[in-house]
Amino acid sequence: MKCGALEAIFRECRFDRSRSLRMIRAFAAIALPPEIRESLVRLQAGLPSGRPVPPENLHLTLVFLGELPEPVLEDVHLAFAAIRAERFDMTLSGLGLFGGARPRNLHACLAESVALCHLQARLETAARRAGASPERRRFSPHVTLATLRPGQGDPGRLERAVIAGSDFRAGPFPVESFGLYRSELGRNGAVHTELAQYALFSSQLAFPEP
Ligand code: 2AM
Repeated sequence: MKCGALEAIFRECRFDRSRSLRMIRAFAAIALPPEIRESLVRLQAGLPSGRPVPPENLHLTLVFLGELPEPVLEDVHLAFAAIRAERFDMTLSGLGLFGGARPRNLHACLAESVALCHLQARLETAARRAGASPERRRFSPHVTLATLRPGQGDPGRLERAVIAGSDFRAGPFPVESFGLYRSELGRNGAVHTELAQYALFSSQLAFPEP
């Protein structure tokens, strides 16, 4: 099974001559509904520093796959397409900073979700079995709002923005699918293209009442 979008991307993507393979930078993520993105954009407007993530790039990364040769990405796609997982609700709650004393990422956090962590673990395992090597970092669910260059921005002001944003809530909203995305790095930031989308299932449909 190979979807049309994936085939089209494979035709036009970069060719690594040394390995005679096309290489694609890819990740799996959950897209956000428009009203959630709008509330994040309003939040971004009040941030003290950093480069805001453009609205179309706001997402929740499940697995960053890095640069993959085309056949491996195709196997990852097949493995993702075989996953049967249930839909669940997700809520954004509060803000956070990655980077400690040298903050590099300001993000919205997620309310605890066992279903989300379960889905993420299944994707990571599937990607690994298909031949990808996702990072072994512990999954820390977040939606990046702004990135910071090392030393950019006053850490104290950023901390205060995080504290002021502790009552931020968006959702709950239903997660009915996840996607496989290509990421192309350019001078004006990353361009993300959806390669494939995978449906999650309603438990009522999966287990109909007798
Ligand atoms: P993010 O989820 O924290 O925003 C595409 O690059 C996506 O993969 C980005 O949204 C990015 O971070 C995520 N990602 C995770 N680990 C990454 C890494 N080591 N390098 C680049 N992007 C990474």
